[in-house]
Parts: sequence; structure tokens; C-alpha cells
Amino acid sequence: MIKEDLFNELVWLWILIGIVIFPIMLFVKVPYGRHTDKSWGATINNKLGWIIMEFPALAVFMYFFMKGEKSQSAVVWVFFGFWLFHYVNRTFIYPLRTKTAKKQIPFLIVFLAIFFNSVNGFLNGYYFSELHPNYDISWLYDARFIIGSLMFILGMTVNRIADRDLMNLRKPGETGYKIPQTKIFKLVSCPNHGGEMLEWAGFAVLTWSLPALAFAVWTVSNVLPRSLAHHKWYKNHFPDYPKNRKAVIPYIL
Ligand SMILES: NC(=O)c1ccc[n+]([C@@H]2O[C@H](COP(=O)([O-])OP(=O)(O)OC[C@H]3O[C@@H](n4cnc5c(N)ncnc54)[C@H](OP(=O)(O)O)[C@@H]3O)[C@@H](O)[C@H]2O)c1
Repeated sequence: MIKEDLFNELVWLWILIGIVIFPIMLFVKVPYGRHTDKSWGATINNKLGWIIMEFPALAVFMYFFMKGEKSQSAVVWVFFGFWLFHYVNRTFIYPLRTKTAKKQIPFLIVFLAIFFNSVNGFLNGYYFSELHPNYDISWLYDARFIIGSLMFILGMTVNRIADRDLMNLRKPGETGYKIPQTKIFKLVSCPNHGGEMLEWAGFAVLTWSLPALAFAVWTVSNVLPRSLAHHKWYKNHFPDYPKNRKAVIPYIL
């Protein structure tokens, strides 16, 4: 059993690394999808790579959550449900639905994502099995739970609609890119990324916990620079790209 003080220090360290990574990521275009760069070494089939790299977020989280000896309140099982609802989709459904059959992803990206997902899966799974405060059933009426859940559900809905609309842009066998024109893309180039960030910020609020905050920080560090890179890419590749569209936050960024 890890002492709570040590655990919290580890999580703060992880948060700090996530914050330091952010400005670096603004200069490194993570080389998969439209930013693929062959100089990043050996590659693996894109769909398989996604399943392998997302699986630890599901498996490591579930392992540590189930292994815990503390008896879990119904509220913690609700948190468990939120996590699973996201990661069953991200690990299996999302990769299998993408129209990327002929595409590759670098091993290095898969390896880094396995590390990132394992750390976050461990920190959250362990915390919600061993170290969390006793969330009483009244937590379900707490403003933090209600606001956080609304953020999570709204974020997830936007993320899934946007991912679906992107996948629908390609006919079977196509691999190129088009300008997304559905409603959810009217204001921003990357609503899927915006939804993802809102979702995990919501999880941090609804659980009011340090490991979930760490995950939200890391999500922003990973995803926000990618949204900015995508937005720039769209503007460079499509002369008729809608001028009023922002990258990820409507009217702002
Ligand atoms: N929690 C985290 O830290 C984290 C980190 C990264 C991603 N994610 C999530 O994972 C999901 C995928 O992320 P991503 O950055 O890979 O998304 P993305 O670049 O927007 O791509 C999503 C899918 O749509 C296709 N696509 C995108 N734009 C297209 C266009 N204009 N025309 C035709 N097809 C298009 C992509 O194909 P190609 O692959 O061929 O480009 C890919 O299959 C998102 O929901 C994101 O929020 C989460």
C-alpha cells in the first residue's frame, strides 16, 4: 500500500511534467494522421496501434480499481462507469470505425501513449480503490458532481459526434482529407479535441480529485497543441477554408 503523502507527491510531479510538456508540444507535431512523418522510425497498422495504445488506460485502471481492499461506495462505481464508458469506445469502437485501414502509426507514438495511459490508469485506478475520501451518497447532489457530470457528458457528446462526422467524410477506401461542413464544425476545426478536454476537465470536477486533475492537465497538453497544428494545416491546405473558424474554442482560439 502506497502512503497517501507519497502518492500525492507523485501525482504533483506528474502534473508538473504535464505542464512542462505543453510548450514543447507546441513545437512538435505528433506524427500520426495528417502529420505523419516517416523520420519517426518503424510503424504499425494504425487501427491496431490505437487499440494497443489505448488498452492500458482501460486495463490498468480496472486492475488497480478491482484489486483495492477498501469497500467501494456506489459513488465510486459511478466514477468507474464514466471511465469505462469513455475507454471502451476509445479502445475498441473508435479505432475499428476509423477509415484508416491503409495507414500506419509510428511505434514510438504507440509506446509513449502506452506509458501515458498506464500512468494515468494507475494513478486513477489506485486512488479510487485505496486512497479516495469516503464519498457519501450525498456527493451525487453536490454542485461539483452535478457540474462536472454535465461537463463530462457534454464533452463526450461533442467528441463522439465530431469523431463520427470526421469518419463519415471518407468513402470506403478513401484516405484523403476534406473540409468538415457539419454543424459541429461551424465554429471550430477540432470539436473532437475540444470535447475531449471538456470531458476530462469534467471528470476532475465531478470527482474533485488530484489524479483526475493530473489526467485533465495531460489531456490539454496532448490535445490542444494538436488542435492548433490541425487548424494551421487546414488553412494551409484549403484556400477556401472558412475564415471565421477557430481551432478549438469557439470565437476565442
Ligand atoms: N486524451 C488524450 O490525451 C487524447 C490524445 C489524442 C487524441 N485523443 C482523442 O482521440 C481521438 C482521435 O484524435 P486525433 O487527434 O487522431 O483526431 P483527428 O486527427 O481529428 O482524426 C480523427 C479521425 O478522422 C479522420 N479525419 C480527421 N480529419 C479529417 C478530414 N478533414 N477529412 C477526412 N478524414 C479526417 C482521421 O484520419 P487520419 O488518421 O487519416 O488523419 C482519423 O481517422 C479524438 O477524439 C481525440 O480527442 C485523446
